[in-house]
Amino acid sequence: MRLFFLKSTLPYDLIFIVQPKFNFEAIESIADNNAAYNLLDAVADSLALNSYAVIDNFLSDQESLDCLEILKENKEQGKFKKAGIGTSNQYQINRSIRGDEIKWLDESNLSAANQVYMDQINAMMRFFNRSLFLSLKDFECHFAHYPTGTFYKRHLDLLKLSDHRVLSFVFYLNPNWQQGDGGELLLYLSENDVEKTVVVNPLLGRLVIFRSELLEHEVALAHKSRYSITGWMLSQFKGTTFL
Ligand code: OGA
Ligand code: MN
Repeated sequence: MRLFFLKSTLPYDLIFIVQPKFNFEAIESIADNNAAYNLLDAVADSLALNSYAVIDNFLSDQESLDCLEILKENKEQGKFKKAGIGTSNQYQINRSIRGDEIKWLDESNLSAANQVYMDQINAMMRFFNRSLFLSLKDFECHFAHYPTGTFYKRHLDLLKLSDHRVLSFVFYLNPNWQQGDGGELLLYLSENDVEKTVVVNPLLGRLVIFRSELLEHEVALAHKSRYSITGWMLSQFKGTTFL
């Protein structure tokens, strides 16, 4: 039973600051890269203990702005589609549940900034496999745009076991986000049957990661266009998710 409802802002100790140009890939080859190792270790601990983690400056500002640029090019070329809910024959577009539009990243044709992003995510995924004994195989991601006046109601990302989504991650691309712009991510945590809401502001360069099957969350009403790259680390290779 839920006893009462607590609202808090993000606890500072759960925000990790990644130095610009920080390269997670380096931990694969340089055993004594303690800074990278310690950061990813703290992120893995936070995922295990709190079911979520937040990393600031996941890419440098310039790289994040380059990602935003590519997102906007895709939008101008009309490549975004209204996002739906459910899968295959249950798929429907319902603006009273979610109002964003999305474009899946085309891995055969990535821009340089998106490649850096994918490389960091991939290195992080391999780190989680070792530190959390997961067997993540693959990940997928899409650009997302929430136009003014849109939101995504409270939901879980894992709707059925065959979804194979283990960790959800969202990388925010809003350079001048200010209090009052809306579009905050609300994470609903449960601690000893007490529900707590963590508010994550969608700031440029910030990556939030959380457990897909556990954490209910929502995107608050956006009062300005809100941009991100959203993805999932999967327990199956993408081509085999029909299994
Ligand atoms: C989603 C989602 C959160 C966000 O796309 O499933 O919950 O902050 N996104 O954009
Ligand atoms: Mn979601």
